[in-house]
Amino acid sequence: MALVNTKKMFKMAYKNGYAIGAFNVNNMEITQGIISAVAEKKAPVILQISRGARKYASMSYLRAIIDVAVRENPDIPICMHLDHGDTVELCKQCVDDGFTSVMIDASHNPFAENIKVTKQVVDYAHKYNVTVEAELGQLGGIEEDVVGVSHDDVSKHLTDPDQVVEFYEKTGCDSLAVACGTSHGAFKFKSEPKLAFDVLQAVADKLPGYPLVMHGSSSVLKEFVDLINKYGGKMPNAMGVPEAAISKAAKMAVCKVNIDTDLRMAMTAKIRQVFAEKPSEFDPRNYLGPARDAIKAMVSHKLDVLGCTGKAGECL
Ligand code: G3H
Ligand code: 13P
Ligand code: ZN
Repeated sequence: MALVNTKKMFKMAYKNGYAIGAFNVNNMEITQGIISAVAEKKAPVILQISRGARKYASMSYLRAIIDVAVRENPDIPICMHLDHGDTVELCKQCVDDGFTSVMIDASHNPFAENIKVTKQVVDYAHKYNVTVEAELGQLGGIEEDVVGVSHDDVSKHLTDPDQVVEFYEKTGCDSLAVACGTSHGAFKFKSEPKLAFDVLQAVADKLPGYPLVMHGSSSVLKEFVDLINKYGGKMPNAMGVPEAAISKAAKMAVCKVNIDTDLRMAMTAKIRQVFAEKPSEFDPRNYLGPARDAIKAMVSHKLDVLGCTGKAGECL
């Protein structure tokens, strides 16, 4: 069985200067698209499930889909991760459900409370060999089930490098999501995209060898914005993190890069295209199939951006 926690993945990613892709899964087609890309490219992968995904698809369906992916790909290290767990109870539930990694996102609380909540999750998860990602500083972008700061406030809530050692020592968390200017969704910047690499480096200097996580790392590629808009969508001024910045972070201490929006856009663009070009189409396999291929192509491309193509073997 290749269902693993993040320990070995992050150790190798840190050592060899790449990052593991953490892709959000919500249904069978998305999971299959991701898995066929990582299987072909022999890359380790983190499949992450948000509270929204649990609500949408139900945990038992998602679990069964991932079980098949794991069974059919024994050579690929696959981590099943809770994305943005917002309560200790949800994190504990996910540990009990067989997740190999959980995120406790308590960063909207005051520092001491963030430590207290995170430590409760770490104490529980570590008993079951489940790794824990925590967050310090606040990410931007507000989605249905994810609390974030407004896009205008992103730069005011960056991670404070002076807090990271105390946070790590008091919680024992296995990785840390840092706020360095990214935000969730397709509208990340109003003008030139900029990440706070100085913050990333300062955090890395305080915790040498320690894996950092970058959320909100979709690049919102122009090609897909244009396709969506061409086929009847409306995403004016959509903008993401340039891929060169993602590759740079992956070579630094960032060992996990979260990508959801780029998959959503690939899928949406393809479905819109099929509907526009074949208005008579009504067999879901004939639009979900191409959408699944589009997810595969997007993930395959991202694996190269992250530098994790061919790294499955060393992470097992
Ligand atoms: O970080 C948030 C992810 O994009 C998941 O979003 O809560 O809509 O599933 P969701
Ligand atoms: P994007 O919205 O940039 O894809 O970020 C996803 C994410 O951070 C999930 O936790
Ligand atoms: Zn996130």
